[in-house]
Amino acid sequence: MAPMTRGRADDVTGVPHPRTAEYYAQRASAGLIVSEGIWVDRTGKSGPGIPGLATKRQAEAWCAVTEAVHREGGRIFAQLWHAGRVSHPGVMGRTPVAPSAVRQAGRIFSADGWTDTVEPRALGEEEIGEVVQDFAAAALRAVEAGFDGVELHGANGYLIQEFLARNTNLREDRYGGSVAARLRFPLEVVAAVTERIGAARVALRISPGNPENDIVEDDWKEVYSRLLEELRRYELAYLHVIDTPDAVPLSHLRPLWPGTLVANLRSEEPTSRDEGESLIETGLADVVAFGRLFIANPDLPARFALGAPLARADHDVYYGARLDGYTDFPAYEPDSAKFACSARS
Ligand SMILES: Cc1cc2nc3c(=O)[nH]c(=O)nc-3n(C[C@H](O)[C@H](O)[C@H](O)COP(=O)(O)O)c2cc1C
Repeated sequence: MAPMTRGRADDVTGVPHPRTAEYYAQRASAGLIVSEGIWVDRTGKSGPGIPGLATKRQAEAWCAVTEAVHREGGRIFAQLWHAGRVSHPGVMGRTPVAPSAVRQAGRIFSADGWTDTVEPRALGEEEIGEVVQDFAAAALRAVEAGFDGVELHGANGYLIQEFLARNTNLREDRYGGSVAARLRFPLEVVAAVTERIGAARVALRISPGNPENDIVEDDWKEVYSRLLEELRRYELAYLHVIDTPDAVPLSHLRPLWPGTLVANLRSEEPTSRDEGESLIETGLADVVAFGRLFIANPDLPARFALGAPLARADHDVYYGARLDGYTDFPAYEPDSAKFACSARS
């Protein structure tokens, strides 16, 4: 199950909703659940209702979630997230931070609805080290709270990718300029987190060339080839690649990654079973992550196995404090359909 923010956490405390345990337990047949993005520090919170893993109370609440998933025989990784510039003072009370003071084009969803983005503040060198430590501390807390591992959110235009991309990283110090310098922060995070909890429990999610959140990565081939070259020494749990259905970055990167590769496709339509099978058959991926299909089909693997019809979730229920559209999607019941029998008197 791909990581999906659902915005149901307590907005003030960052504690996951009491029903979050049930939500993930319902989806335990996924094999591996990657949790919604969880902030490692409040400054890295992207939007309303996003949970954290920076306090004892938050960790205790996640403990109930991991227990519930394990009870159902599932496994769950925590997705560790720093949103960088993709945030707003109206979300977390401060000016967002980023590699450089480059404002994101477009608007952002804040507590007051859609709002203009603000210019972020460039992180000082010392502060970068603190964010690295925030990731490491959250990773340890995740393991202590019963998560089977962590996935570092290096995709979709948030802090880690902001360091990789030329249009968001204009730094001229050790963290910007050359490709090697732009790789420094992501690699420091990987090094600190693997040192803290062991590489076998650590994964990284990337989205090479993805323009989401106003990223321009015309040099993705060089950047991600170098990144994978550096990462190969760690024997991570897996590398998670988001690609478009034409799979151009995946075709380029797959030969460079001897470890487990999880793929997920971004397009208008949710990643389908056919697309997943083709990714496996062509060897482009070892595992496929499904996102949106899991929202309305908690028993997705069983439905795939049976060829059962798939339910669709309305986009309105994806995010927000509302409780409908969260734990109320039933598993498929073959006998639940009404049938008509003309022989009945
Ligand atoms: C409601 C929603 C929330 C999402 N939240 C996250 C997130 O927190 N972290 C992340 O890496 N991707 C997030 N994504 C992206 C998904 O993980 C996935 O890449 C995307 O939905 C495409 O896969 P799909 O076609 O199987 O849904 C989100 C997607 C949706 C629809």
